[in-house]
Amino acid sequence: MASWERFNTIPAGRVISASVALGVLHPGAMGASVAAAAATGGARVFWSAAGRSAATRERAERAGLLECPDVQALCERCRVVLSVCPPEEALGLARTVSDLGFAGTYVDANAVSPATARKIAAVFDPVAVSFVDGGLIGPPAWKAGSTRLHLSGPRAAEVAALFAGSPLETKCVGDEIGAASALKMVFAAQTKGTTALLAAIVTVAEANGVRSALFEEWEQTQPGLVARSQGMAPMIGAKAWRFEGEMREIAATFEAAGLPAGFHTAAAEVYGRLAGFKEGPPPDLAALIQRLRESSD
Ligand SMILES: NC(=O)c1ccc[n+]([C@@H]2O[C@H](COP(=O)([O-])OP(=O)(O)OC[C@H]3O[C@@H](n4cnc5c(N)ncnc54)[C@H](OP(=O)(O)O)[C@@H]3O)[C@@H](O)[C@H]2O)c1
Repeated sequence: MASWERFNTIPAGRVISASVALGVLHPGAMGASVAAAAATGGARVFWSAAGRSAATRERAERAGLLECPDVQALCERCRVVLSVCPPEEALGLARTVSDLGFAGTYVDANAVSPATARKIAAVFDPVAVSFVDGGLIGPPAWKAGSTRLHLSGPRAAEVAALFAGSPLETKCVGDEIGAASALKMVFAAQTKGTTALLAAIVTVAEANGVRSALFEEWEQTQPGLVARSQGMAPMIGAKAWRFEGEMREIAATFEAAGLPAGFHTAAAEVYGRLAGFKEGPPPDLAALIQRLRESSD
């Protein structure tokens, strides 16, 4: 008998309880930590193996998650499904779950614009599915005090309760679908947006032969900026491929608020040029600059 077959499904419409069966799509670096946090809160937490990499399997097994053969089995088994995936895949994943006839609570915790969050909510039949909007801020949630899951929507508090006592802190930011996503967008607009700008500035300085002179100037006038420049390459290298889509969601968020989208469209291009660092050792600053310059040829 497969591990997922040992559990009975909870009838549709029942209020979420801590012992609920919860599915995480998918246990990436962040998703695995969120899944482990839900297990700490008392949920039985499932993952779906079909199509996933060896790295995802390893994270799922290390986090002690229960295996479902595929997304269909997970949807049949679970009353709560949590989506934590690359932002540009979030809408398609929700459509897959909806097409499989999922009934229960669907939480999208991805870095998407409020408009995308509402589009994701709209793929579900509101009679069968309660949609909760989410946004994660911080590193993977292995340590208390590091990471917050912001939630919005009429059933946000029920989802928050699933993580009680776990390292993942939850905050409900209202009943509106899109509020949690908006908070994630403006937060990352500053953090990842300014990092992309910094990478571009340092590269332009290098292209003009004035990087050392710029660093000297910053040492005198901008405390911490040289250290931030030197430390950014290994931090963003492996994740740049995923940040491109996130920057496009932020650009759309700016545009919808009547502001210029161009800051983050440019940031998306910067991260897109760095996407090749997904595999391999983390780059240093020189490698990052070289990659940004090569890609402009
Ligand atoms: N990591 C962080 O520090 C952090 C911080 C804040 C928010 N977040 C948010 O968390 C989400 C995921 O981040 P992560 O760090 O967990 O990413 P990740 O480590 O790259 O993992 C992504 C997961 O999604 C799966 N995946 C890949 N392609 C997919 C597709 N086409 N459809 C569905 N799933 C797919 C991957 O599976 P395979 O690789 O096995 O195919 C993997 O399990 C993002 O929305 C991100 O903004 C992350």
